[in-house]
Amino acid sequence: MDLRAVAGLVLFCGSAAAQSPAPEQIQRGAAIYERNCSPCHGARMQDPQGAADLRKFPHNERERFITSVSRGKNQMPPWGGMLKPEDIEALWAYVVSAESLYGH
Ligand code: HEC
Repeated sequence: MDLRAVAGLVLFCGSAAAQSPAPEQIQRGAAIYERNCSPCHGARMQDPQGAADLRKFPHNERERFITSVSRGKNQMPPWGGMLKPEDIEALWAYVVSAESLYGH
């Protein structure tokens, strides 16, 4: 395999990599989560009190995550005005990493 093929592969994996976000991204998401989301969804996504269990949020529904978080859903307030799109991306990185961070 020549170098260009390797670069292409890295790019491809990077764009398809909902499974393995960068550690900095996950940490940033965790900090935003603890500040804004944990009161309802539970510290470390454990024990959500009536709010959705984010450990069970389907990993292939990124768009839905972004829409629900930005616009709110039923009892959940919208966050689009408070959080930047990068913040919501970081939250997504954190949510899809819950399993590897905390197990089931
Ligand atoms: C005031 C309490 C509260 C806070 C704070 C809160 N949520 Fe929620 N959240 C809820 C409730 C309640 C639901 C269930 C909504 C429903 O399905 O009726 C929910 C649902 C969700 C869902 C599932 C939406 C769907 O499409 O099914 C996601 C994702 C989510 N919250 C993410 C977050 C994130 C990320 C934060 C922090 C930025 C956050 N929430 C902060 C109460 C909260």
